[in-house]
Amino acid sequence: MEGTLKQIQAYAKEINAFLPKDEQELEGFRIRFLGTKGVVKSFFGEMKNVPAEGKKSFGQTLNDFKKLAEEKYESAKAALNGTKEESSHAIDLTLPAEPHRLGAHHPVSVVRKQITDIFSHLGFVIAEGPEIEDDWHNFTALNMPPDHPARDMQDTFYISRNPEWVLRTHTSSVQVRVMEQGKLPIRIICPGRVFRNETISARAHCFFHQVEGLYIDEDVSFADLKQTLYFFVKEMFGENTGIRFRPSFFPFTEPSAEMDISCLICGGKGCAVCKHTGWVEILGCGMVHPNVLENCRIDSKKYTGFAFGMGIERIAMLKYQIKDLRLFSENDIRFLEQFTGA
Ligand code: PHE
Repeated sequence: MEGTLKQIQAYAKEINAFLPKDEQELEGFRIRFLGTKGVVKSFFGEMKNVPAEGKKSFGQTLNDFKKLAEEKYESAKAALNGTKEESSHAIDLTLPAEPHRLGAHHPVSVVRKQITDIFSHLGFVIAEGPEIEDDWHNFTALNMPPDHPARDMQDTFYISRNPEWVLRTHTSSVQVRVMEQGKLPIRIICPGRVFRNETISARAHCFFHQVEGLYIDEDVSFADLKQTLYFFVKEMFGENTGIRFRPSFFPFTEPSAEMDISCLICGGKGCAVCKHTGWVEILGCGMVHPNVLENCRIDSKKYTGFAFGMGIERIAMLKYQIKDLRLFSENDIRFLEQFTGA
């Protein structure tokens, strides 16, 4: 009896220390202790040799021993499964990394940078202003007083909280702000987003991007305007691109003109893109109206200047042969990734 209890104690010690490395060791443990011919069973077999008065306490000891072996088996099994799960989730550092898709600049950003780079070579600096403007900077200072019919040229979003506020319809408003600061001469380009209440189609959107330019100094003439824009066109579209000016009207310039470039597709011979004229329109321009200079407290007897404005999307459409304006704001990866190298 004494010997049997010692044996049980020794086994209990072994069970407590048991820590299987793998399933095989665990199974070995199960067979050795809990199997049909295992240690636990064989101790229970000894019950018959125990005298009646000792049966109860020996039975209790055996039950505890059996429980110890069973619990060890369950906990060891759980621990083993846990490690297995963990290792299947573990990161395999030897695998090749998931490729990162490289983004690209948006074509509007690409073309805006090209435009501003060209003008910065001529000494123009970038000026920016708010997208929500007041009536004065967007219209009135630009020789478009309230009720002036020229306001109809730009269908405007008014802000209901304050009818004096609009979403700017052009970045000419930034030019007004810079002129009002009164530091002359002025040579700026104003890139930015502008808004017009247009029905969305392949050729119009409720917002687009512009780069406008302004040059004010003593003795600035229309010849300077032509030469500056000619330089821009050659840099932007190539040495052989031609330009022509057509008389036009803007309330803030006098004289005013629209500038066309020779069609990039047919080289001027006439095709569908240029509607068989050989020319495509790219911007509006003119000499700053004296009223505008005076509105901004600039002496119009002493100073003259020219201004121009173009839509970035329009330039991008011509340059990359994009047929639908909506593509610029649809975030379609198939469209955007074509500019990765641009
Ligand atoms: N502000 C004009 C527009 O948005 C463009 C322009 C700018 C025309 C400067 C002439 C001179 O339509």
